[in-house]
Amino acid sequence: MKITTIGAGYVGLVTAACFAELGNEVLCIKRTDKNIEKLQNGILNIYEPGLTKLLQKNIKEGKIRFTTNIKEAIEYSDIIFICVGTPQSETGKADLSQVEEVSRQIAQNLNSYKLIIEKSTVPVNTYQWVKKTVIRYANENVEFDLASNPEFLREGTAIYDFMNPDRIVVGVESERAKQIFKELYKPFTDKGYPLLITNPPAAELIKHASNSFLAMKISYINMLSDLCETVGIDVNMVADGIGLDNRIGRSFLNAGIGYGGSCFPKDVKAFIKIAEDHGLDFGLLRETEKINAERRIKFLEKIENILWINKSKKIAVWGLAFKPNTDDIRDAPSIDIVRELHDTDANLRLYDPEASENFKKLFPEDESITYFKDKYETLKDADALLIVTEWDEFVNADLKKVKTFMRLPIIIDGRNIYESSTMGEFEYYSIGRVN
Ligand code: UGA
Repeated sequence: MKITTIGAGYVGLVTAACFAELGNEVLCIKRTDKNIEKLQNGILNIYEPGLTKLLQKNIKEGKIRFTTNIKEAIEYSDIIFICVGTPQSETGKADLSQVEEVSRQIAQNLNSYKLIIEKSTVPVNTYQWVKKTVIRYANENVEFDLASNPEFLREGTAIYDFMNPDRIVVGVESERAKQIFKELYKPFTDKGYPLLITNPPAAELIKHASNSFLAMKISYINMLSDLCETVGIDVNMVADGIGLDNRIGRSFLNAGIGYGGSCFPKDVKAFIKIAEDHGLDFGLLRETEKINAERRIKFLEKIENILWINKSKKIAVWGLAFKPNTDDIRDAPSIDIVRELHDTDANLRLYDPEASENFKKLFPEDESITYFKDKYETLKDADALLIVTEWDEFVNADLKKVKTFMRLPIIIDGRNIYESSTMGEFEYYSIGRVN
């Protein structure tokens, strides 16, 4: 099938690459021609495992093209995915200006029937506005359907998630739209992946409700970790115990320094606002946010309780990305942690396999911040090591080497990547466990 994706950001590119890999022909539209030549050669300025390879393969096979010409992109196919950003506005609401702009552009270039699909995360009932906008601005009386097909991709595993979805959710209003989706997602339904067909507002709501629920799960285990730490129980054991209940499930019960990234913080806030706009107080989610914000503060308090005074101490930090396998630092706990430690005049030695360049834009090197390219070099003469992101290379690090490099063998682990029982040679502190 022929597909247009509007937006060449993270979601747009993954969607384009994966649909092309499944045998479709995809035209991806970019807003400006900045970096378009690079994109046309499959060179990306984001790090997502497997994405460059997949894009380059499909570009070479002629299954993906990029353009900045909206008219060409709309006329190209009957299936148009809107994959533009919906960032947080000052009030916490989702800023839908890009969705609105794209809706007008689609309308003004309608030349035949189109299935217009919201993939961007939007508040419930946004589809009504998109529909109204397309009707208002359409030059001709051309038929179209509006649908919602939210994405559930995680950064770092986006290609795997796209190809192996827990579920595909589509919200449609017509039989015609339903049949197009059935054909589009046939490679998945043939393999037994569930396709849930519902209406557009329900699909929109499912997205916000999923992310908020997962964020709530993380805050729940983090709150439990405080209790565990006080009474001397290992929070992982509790997570295993409750997670074995199929109704609860073990995933997203990893205690630590809380959630970050471009999705959970923004989507929880937006969902609280959506409820508020409908006269409801989503106190449960306000508490979720509060618990999450406290994680960073508690981690800093822990550091202070262990090191006493930070001034002039060499503190190594392993991990700056908001999670492993990405270079994304948006709303990462590392930002608050580094900022606060920097303010206490600590001598910071930072390392991340992928995110250092992005982090340098916020925290350039100075007399008390140094970036390293090797995780062990980062530890040279360090008084303490903080683990902020659980990259595999930290989990599998040579701890003997770690100890040799450090001045003091103090590890403060914000992600619980090591077993406390095997850390005898270190002064090892973690979250929600017996330290
Ligand atoms: C999240 C959702 O998992 C995706 O389904 C969704 O499509 C995406 O948001 C989105 O809306 O675009 P993502 O933010 O990429 O994906 O990453 P997650 O793996 O969900 O992790 C989010 C944050 O939660 C990270 O900071 C991670 O460290 C933290 N986390 C996760 C925990 O603290 N504990 C856990 O047990 C799991």
